[in-house]
Amino acid sequence: MAAVAALPVSLSGRFKGSFAYFTIKDRLPQILTRVIDTLHRHKNEFFEEHGEKGVEAEKRAISFLSKLRNELQTDKPVTPLEDELPDAALWNQYLDYQRNLSNGNGEPSWFQSPWLYVECYMYRRIHAALAQNPPIDNFDVFKEGKAQNFFESQEAVIALCTYFQELLKNIKDLDEKQLQEELFKLLQVSLWGNKCDLSFSAGEDSSQKSSPLQSLENMIPYILVNDMEKLWSLLVNAKKRKTEKNNVRVDIILDNAGFELVSDLVLADFLLSSKLADEVHFHGKSIPWYVSDTTKHDFNWTIKQLQSANHMWMSRCGINWEGNLKKGVWVYRDHMFWTLPHDFSSMAEVAPDLYADLQKSNLLLFKGDLNYRKLTGDRKWEYTVPFHQALNKFHPAPLCSLRTLKSDTQAGLKPGQGEQIQASEPEWMVNGKYGVVQFDAAL
Ligand code: F6P
Ligand code: MG
Repeated sequence: MAAVAALPVSLSGRFKGSFAYFTIKDRLPQILTRVIDTLHRHKNEFFEEHGEKGVEAEKRAISFLSKLRNELQTDKPVTPLEDELPDAALWNQYLDYQRNLSNGNGEPSWFQSPWLYVECYMYRRIHAALAQNPPIDNFDVFKEGKAQNFFESQEAVIALCTYFQELLKNIKDLDEKQLQEELFKLLQVSLWGNKCDLSFSAGEDSSQKSSPLQSLENMIPYILVNDMEKLWSLLVNAKKRKTEKNNVRVDIILDNAGFELVSDLVLADFLLSSKLADEVHFHGKSIPWYVSDTTKHDFNWTIKQLQSANHMWMSRCGINWEGNLKKGVWVYRDHMFWTLPHDFSSMAEVAPDLYADLQKSNLLLFKGDLNYRKLTGDRKWEYTVPFHQALNKFHPAPLCSLRTLKSDTQAGLKPGQGEQIQASEPEWMVNGKYGVVQFDAAL
């Protein structure tokens, strides 16, 4: 417990005026309202598919969600989950843990508890609203938005697939330096792909129309921690040390569907095609999560969309990727832990099977802002605290976060670096304009 006491405080809605406060007050209720609207809009579809039973289920789900929104907006205590889904007991144990935290903030509630906890809890309750109400229990309220993001990024997807297929034509002839350059490019596309819902290139609104590769040079100054060289050394050394028995394995802990997912798949394909890795394991979400996160359905849907696209290089990508899955050199997994409220420092205890699985990897790539928050516990770290320290003993394997900053927590900066940006750009931690490629060797 002594180590816990030494950690900085959690971000929380109790800090008025903070980004957490603003999110809980405005953004989360907006998301709930949109979810309710989505259900309303699908009423006819539910009727056509399931008759009256579908409409009744929709009404029950909406009333559950309206109640949830009211609890949130009036800062009610967080209540135990009453469903019987497989993770309910773990959530309720976590609520007890929050109750017993002796931080003097009383009963856990929407604004008083850690932001990470209540935000995750909201998505879990949205899931319960549907899952408890058959026959609409498999309806993903965020599906439309994810598909829309994919279709709106068509031009960027085409540009990226075309670039990549051209690259594959002569990948065997590339020397080490050229391979390194290509890896760095695709890492950056995957990093900036995390802007997803935001504009894609710095300062431009409708950048999905332009090639995602064009503006990379200009965006280098926005990468606050750039450990790409370390990733390269790790991968090249792993390749050199490789024997027949020990495959080089890279894991990608996915974030958003849409363009970001395509950028991650291209990166994964590059790792195999360049022989920097022999297998890639993807980790997605087992329930709809944080609006745009990738579920198994989104993952398969995206590959199918590419396959059947009316564009030669897009469909070539889709066909190859389906092949990778069939051959088993790509593996898709989901684990309940990724949609629990726990930060990753408790993975070894809460999900020892997942931790043991990650330990088999040569490199873990964590995509996105929420994964960064969970890596570092969503706390008010001093900017200069080493990333290794902020990971708070989460070291299953060498890992790297590819994240654009959309929440106000950041570790591992150089002295003065954060303060300097803050002076000219107060929104730097939440506007998605800055990013990190931040590595930890797990030593
Ligand atoms: O914009 C803030 C936010 O909703 C955070 O709650 C969360 O950390 C993030 O966006 C989700 O971003 P990402 O998809 O990169 O994890
Ligand atoms: Mg996300």
